[in-house]
Amino acid sequence: MGYGEVITRSYDRQIDRARVEDLERRCEVGPAERVFLFTDTLGDPICRIRNSPMYKMLVAELDRELVGVIQGSIKQVTVQKPHEDLAKVGYVLGLRVAPLHRRKGIGSSLVCKLEEWFTANDVDYAYMATEKDNEASVKLFVNKLGYVNFRTPAILVHPVNNRMFHTPSNVQIRKLKIEEAENLYYKFMASTEFFPYDIGNILRNKLSLGTWVAYPRGEIVGEFGSNGQIFPKSWAMVSVWNSGELFKLREGPLSGKMVRTLCQFVHNMASTKSKDCKVIVTEVGGSDALRLHIPHWKLLSCPEDLWCMKALKNEKKKTLRELTKIPPTIALFVDPREV
Ligand SMILES: CC(C)(COP(=O)(O)OP(=O)(O)OC[C@H]1O[C@@H](n2cnc3c(N)ncnc32)[C@H](O)[C@@H]1OP(=O)(O)O)[C@@H](O)C(=O)NCCC(=O)NCCS
Repeated sequence: MGYGEVITRSYDRQIDRARVEDLERRCEVGPAERVFLFTDTLGDPICRIRNSPMYKMLVAELDRELVGVIQGSIKQVTVQKPHEDLAKVGYVLGLRVAPLHRRKGIGSSLVCKLEEWFTANDVDYAYMATEKDNEASVKLFVNKLGYVNFRTPAILVHPVNNRMFHTPSNVQIRKLKIEEAENLYYKFMASTEFFPYDIGNILRNKLSLGTWVAYPRGEIVGEFGSNGQIFPKSWAMVSVWNSGELFKLREGPLSGKMVRTLCQFVHNMASTKSKDCKVIVTEVGGSDALRLHIPHWKLLSCPEDLWCMKALKNEKKKTLRELTKIPPTIALFVDPREV
C-alpha cells in the first residue's frame, strides 16, 4: 500500500491542540525501562516555548492524520572562549513522531524544516538536548543530520515532601529585587556558556517566583550587591521558576553551605506555598562542583543529559569544531524556559 504525501505546516491551536496532546501521550521519550520526568502540557502544548523571544511549532500530517510535531525557539546567548561572544541559537525540542509512522523520514524532515526557519532568522547554531541513551534521537541528530555532541549537563531531581528544613541561624537569606538580580546575573554570569541576553525577560516573567541570596549573617550591612559594596566571602544565589520548580545558582567561594541552605529554603517554600509542586529540578553543567551541594535523589536524576549542536552557517563550522574541543566552562546556563 502506498502512502500519501506528508504535509508540514505551522501549529494551529484550534485544529491541532487536542491531537498534539494525544500524540505526546502516545510517544514515550527514551528507553522504557528508565523512570524519568514526563511533562504534562496541561492543555497548552506550546507552553515550553511561548516564553522565548521567538518560537515556532510545526506539525506533520499524513492523510489528515497528525503524525509528527516539533518545536523550536530562538534567542541570543554567550558562547565559550576563545570566541567568547554573542551567538544566535535555535533550540530544537519536543520532536515526536507517531509510533506507526516512524522510520519514514518524518522526524528528519521536521528537523530540516525547523532549521530552515532558524536560517531564515539568521541563527548561527541549532542545538538540542536528549537523554544520552535515547538511541533513535541520537542517531537521527548525530548520525543523520550532522549534530555533534557538545555538553553533558546533569539533571538533579529532589522530591518535595512535608519535611521542613531548618535554616542555620548563622546564614542570612534575602529576596532580591528584579533589578538587583539582573545586575548580579550580568556581573557574575554573563560569560557563562549559554547565558541568555534576555535574562531580564526571564526574571520578569510571571512564572519566575523570585531570586534569593544566602550569605553568612552579619557580613553585609545594607543592600546586598549594591554599588561599591564588598561581597561576602561566601554567598550563593538562587532563582526559582515555576514549571515543576526549577532553579539556577551562582556560587561564591566556599559556598557549599549557602547553596545547600538555599536549596532547603526552596524546598520549604515549595512544600508550604505550592501544594501542586512535587519535585524540584536543577540542571547544572556536567563538571559543575555545585552538584555536590544540591540535594537530589539519584533514582530520579539523570547524570548525563546530552546536548548536541550544529553550525547552520558555513563560517561557524570551524568555531563549533573548536568549541567542542575545549573543556566546558565550569558552569552552564540552563534556561528555565526550555525545561
Ligand atoms: C526520535 C523520533 C522522533 C524519530 O522519528 P522518525 O520519523 O522515526 O525518524 P526518521 O525516520 O527521520 O529517522 C531518521 C534516522 O534516525 C535514525 N533512527 C530513527 N529511529 C531510530 C531507531 N528507533 N533506532 C535507531 N536509529 C533510528 C536512523 O538513522 C534513521 O535513518 P534510517 O531510517 O535511514 O536508518 C521518533 O522515534 C520518536 O518520536 N521517538 C519518541 C520521542 C523522542 O524520543 N523524541 C526525541 C526527543 S529529543
